[in-house]
Amino acid sequence: GRLLPLARRTLCSSAAASAAKEASNSYKVALLGAAGGIGQPLGMLMKLNPAIDRLSLYDIMATPGVAADLSHVNTAAKVSGFVGDDQLGEALAGSDLVIIPAGVPRKPGMTRDDLFKINAGIVKGLCEAIAKHCPQALVNVISNPVNSTVPIAAGVFKKAGTYDPRRLFGVTTLDVVRARTFLSEKKGLNPAGVDVPVVGGHAGATILPLFSQAVPKVDLTQAEVEELTKRTQEGGTEVVQAKAGKGSATLSMAYAGALFADACLQGLSGKKDVIQCAYVASQITDLPFFASKVRLGKGGLEEVYDLGPLSDYEQKLLAEMKEQLKCNIDKGIKFGQEN
Ligand code: NAI
Repeated sequence: GRLLPLARRTLCSSAAASAAKEASNSYKVALLGAAGGIGQPLGMLMKLNPAIDRLSLYDIMATPGVAADLSHVNTAAKVSGFVGDDQLGEALAGSDLVIIPAGVPRKPGMTRDDLFKINAGIVKGLCEAIAKHCPQALVNVISNPVNSTVPIAAGVFKKAGTYDPRRLFGVTTLDVVRARTFLSEKKGLNPAGVDVPVVGGHAGATILPLFSQAVPKVDLTQAEVEELTKRTQEGGTEVVQAKAGKGSATLSMAYAGALFADACLQGLSGKKDVIQCAYVASQITDLPFFASKVRLGKGGLEEVYDLGPLSDYEQKLLAEMKEQLKCNIDKGIKFGQEN
């Protein structure tokens, strides 16, 4: 793995603060897009997370109702609803973690890139507010196309002078969740004990599950590997088609988003060896953003792991997908420069 340079500022000034956090295990989480298909179940899972003491639900509509509803669940997290631009600052202030599932989802026949026009501007606006109101927060970007929205977020933070690559994550956990499930089904395994790293990006061919590194080690024929790879890459589309115009994955995404957010909080709290796959600023390939296994800690992203040994098939897919991922990244960077 590669260690990222640690910002001295973060090490010193946050030491006392993180010690206090560790003791109380109490974090403020803001969810932007909280009234949506992902936002609502994800808000519920966050309400159930004992590490969270304040949960801020923000959307451009309907959050007061969602917040009132969730606030009746008898767990410790105090829920507040915020609606509209005027209340965004208050929603964000003091957040340790901001999760962004705001934006439009796919309909049948659409690629994630088709969402760019609308979601790029939404993510940009929300990240400008994060830079202003909670620049130290970790940011989990769920809004698609993740391959481009993460570079957009990075651009916004750079412009604002708050960019720290250790605090920005594209959420690719659903790809891992799917690969685990599909492999378990195929081989009759209990999914609880199964793990499959997924690297690259979060769209079609850029999603590269590494079944050769599955835990436990599983014997698969080449045909099985190809089938599982394809199904993982097209898992999102499977749901979009089944929902037939009523959106994309929301429940499984909420589960995946909650898993990743919880890992971020565990890292912040000082827990050791918190490892997840995520789409981050990266030097393990020639692309500036790439999903791979990462270690989460008190500073957010602590370490980006190399890809490890790949099968010939995985190597071939990696070589083939890089051009698409590069285009997606460049599109995000360009949007940032022009807007
Ligand atoms: P949805 O349409 O049900 O909900 C989106 C919510 O965002 C709505 O409540 C809407 O009012 C809100 N919103 C729109 N503009 C906003 C703004 N400026 N500020 C705050 N909230 C705003 O969509 P759904 O199904 O929840 O999906 C959300 C996003 O997540 C989509 O872009 C989708 O493609 C993406 N997604 C990502 C996945 C991943 O693995 N990273 C998996 C599934 C979906």
